[in-house]
Amino acid sequence: MGRNRDENNEKHAGLLRLAQALSFLVVFVAGVVIGLTTTSHINRTSYTISQSNQQKQQQEQVVVVNDNNNNKKKKEDEDECVFDFETFLHPTTVNHSMSDNEVLWRASLKPHNQNNPFTTIPKIAFMFLTRGPLPMLPLWERFFQGHSHLFNIYIHSPPAFSLNLSSSSPFHNRNIPSQDVSWGTVTLADAERRLLANALLDFSNQRFVLLSESCIPVYNFPTVYRYLTDSAHTFVESYDDPSRYGRGRYSRSMLPDIQLKHWRKGSQWFELNRALAVYIVSDTHYYSLFRKYCKPACYPDEHYIPTFLNMFHGSHNSNRTVTWVDWSMGGPHPATYGRVNITISFIQAIRNNGTLCRYNSDMTSICFLFARKFDHTALEPLLNLSSQVMNF
Ligand SMILES: *[C@@H]1O[C@H](CO)[C@@H](O)[C@H](O)[C@H]1NC(C)=O
Ligand SMILES: *[C@@H]1O[C@H](CO)[C@@H](O)[C@H](O)[C@H]1NC(C)=O
Ligand SMILES: *[C@@H]1O[C@H](CO)[C@@H](O)[C@H](O)[C@H]1NC(C)=O
Ligand SMILES: *[C@@H]1O[C@H](CO)[C@@H](O)[C@H](O)[C@H]1NC(C)=O
Ligand SMILES: *[C@@H]1O[C@H](CO)[C@@H](O)[C@H](O)[C@H]1NC(C)=O
Ligand SMILES: *[C@@H]1O[C@H](CO)[C@@H](O)[C@H](O)[C@H]1NC(C)=O
Repeated sequence: MGRNRDENNEKHAGLLRLAQALSFLVVFVAGVVIGLTTTSHINRTSYTISQSNQQKQQQEQVVVVNDNNNNKKKKEDEDECVFDFETFLHPTTVNHSMSDNEVLWRASLKPHNQNNPFTTIPKIAFMFLTRGPLPMLPLWERFFQGHSHLFNIYIHSPPAFSLNLSSSSPFHNRNIPSQDVSWGTVTLADAERRLLANALLDFSNQRFVLLSESCIPVYNFPTVYRYLTDSAHTFVESYDDPSRYGRGRYSRSMLPDIQLKHWRKGSQWFELNRALAVYIVSDTHYYSLFRKYCKPACYPDEHYIPTFLNMFHGSHNSNRTVTWVDWSMGGPHPATYGRVNITISFIQAIRNNGTLCRYNSDMTSICFLFARKFDHTALEPLLNLSSQVMNF
């Protein structure tokens, strides 16, 4: 019980990594130069990157690189204004070629001065950890429609995979530099931390949701936004499972730093606030113990964050997940829903099944904001009922 072992077999050719690393290097140089020279005329509030914007950026990239080669001396002589504050706060691209260690370190930086010399509307970072196409894309696009100032999207997909997206899609050009993921190994937790680190680079992101390609939203954007940004707690499932699927995966090699009493389990589909996300990307010590000693049948993605939060930040966690899933069929896989299963009453039951959940100091009938797992055949019926049942 507990996870999709079928995903285990999905291994990707390691050869791609070399090519990936080389192309990252090229883009890193261009990216740094762009970062240092981007001027304030770039619209910082628009998160819908249009085709023309994209072309403009590419042109700038070429111009800037030439400039750098030919006029290096001149540049050095100038009174340089190398840092654009707005671009520092809100990077205009998610493409870069920082290594994992570099981006994790950058993301760990936290201002000590609490008097921000800027105002920012809190945004939600929707982080999609995918194995390929996004079958629910049209539903998500409808969900995001009209709210572009309140969210950022980050996609981690297999490195060689490219999504064929229209330039008007909020998913367009939101692929972070990704690496191969072998589901069930530490590379999956690496990908989660990589997503968090990349999303932390934008200072307007205050909440961080991890989603998969089989997830759907079950409430509309304004409800999801308020629910997350108004919550005093994060939504990371974290519980003590005394069975061999929980405590049984603990290794005494993690002593003395991680004791059995600290050990927790939870769904990998987390929601974190900014402060806790910074703690997680900053942690090297405990994560290295998981890397060394949490190997199948121990799965870092199910234990690392629940255990780490329990050890240090338990009071900030709700210990429940906002992503609904159906384990009722038993066995190692949660149920997958397709076309024939999608009915109004089914979606309504996910939205509110009569159970109340704790929210801040109150109780609420809204326990879940997202649901999994849905296959591509579920898309059409979901689009048909979304306005009637989910108000978007
Ligand atoms: C992002 O980087 C990759 C290589 O790492 C490159 O092929 C691609 O063109 C870049 N995308 C953009 C929009 O610059
Ligand atoms: C990308 O999508 C467009 C429009 O849906 C389609 O016309 C085009 O053939 C697709 N390209 C690829 C490479 O799949
Ligand atoms: C979640 O669990 C922690 C222990 O890790 C506890 O301190 C905290 O109060 C729990 N949160 C809620 C909302 O009950
Ligand atoms: C979906 O519907 C089919 C046909 O009614 C049924 O056999 C299957 O068990 C349903 N799946 C779930 C997850 O409920
Ligand atoms: C409603 O959902 C909660 C949380 O998943 C579950 O514990 C409970 O059994 C469900 N209640 C009904 C009546 O289905
Ligand atoms: C969705 O709506 C369209 C248009 O009303 C209809 O043709 C189609 O059969 C519906 N599909 C499902 C699965 O309900």
